[in-house]
Amino acid sequence: MLVSAKEMLNKAKAGKYAVGQFNINNLEWTKAILLTAQENNSPVILGVSEGAAKYMCGFKTVVGMVNGMMEELNITVPVAIHLDHGSYEGALKAMEAGFSSIMFDGSHYPIDENIAKTKEMVKLTSEKGLSLEAEVGSIGGEEDGVVGAGEIADANECKAIADLGVTMLAAGIGNIHGVYPENWQGLSFEALEAISKVTNNVPLVLHGGTGIPEDMIKKAISLGVSKINVNTECQLAFAEGTRKYIEAGKDTQGKGFDPRKLLAPGFEAIKATVKEKMELFGSINQA
Ligand code: 13P
Repeated sequence: MLVSAKEMLNKAKAGKYAVGQFNINNLEWTKAILLTAQENNSPVILGVSEGAAKYMCGFKTVVGMVNGMMEELNITVPVAIHLDHGSYEGALKAMEAGFSSIMFDGSHYPIDENIAKTKEMVKLTSEKGLSLEAEVGSIGGEEDGVVGAGEIADANECKAIADLGVTMLAAGIGNIHGVYPENWQGLSFEALEAISKVTNNVPLVLHGGTGIPEDMIKKAISLGVSKINVNTECQLAFAEGTRKYIEAGKDTQGKGFDPRKLLAPGFEAIKATVKEKMELFGSINQA
């Protein structure tokens, strides 16, 4: 059964580990992530951006696919299906379709408007028993057309949003979606510490999990990060696995062109990446 992310994140916060949000793109992605979570007895969050939902034929298709897989694959670990960087309208649609968790990203609005809209979302999601993520500051880079300047979040603004009763808070601390550039300055732990102090134990979310060095991930968790989002790293692993298969000419040998064979190395590569992250985040055996 799909669950809200509230309980798993509060548990993670208390236990000083983080739950991974892995974004999905299609059936192979979803199956790889669900199976890895089950095999490792780990809670998991399936992230779905509005662009990915559109690609997968809409929110209802995604919910139907995930529910079907959970039943057929006997997935018993806690799984949340979470809208990633949702717009106000997108959030309403995802809720209606049966998402168990919502991110409303109002970070591009002036703070008063972000507060007002997030407040409405708190009401709507809590009425349905869903978890809600809000964002302050912005995550740099681009994800599915959502572009962020990468500002460091202001602690007072974070406090104002956290006090609205959101389940979790994403705060920009120098993190970027996609691969980090050579000259990246690293995460601002000063900002994270300041935010953590005033946000009343609300689990914090670290976006842009791809390519953040292990020591920074561990330090971020120790300072209150309880959810870490990973997207690009699974895409790179899938692409590399698929490329190797084709470059070795395996698709031209026997029935190697069968999509079930052609997509298998990429699928296994996603599984390995997800497992590695779950180990690093400390969520294994926390289901
Ligand atoms: P990456 O693609 O950098 O891993 O970021 C994922 C993310 O933050 C999803 O919201």
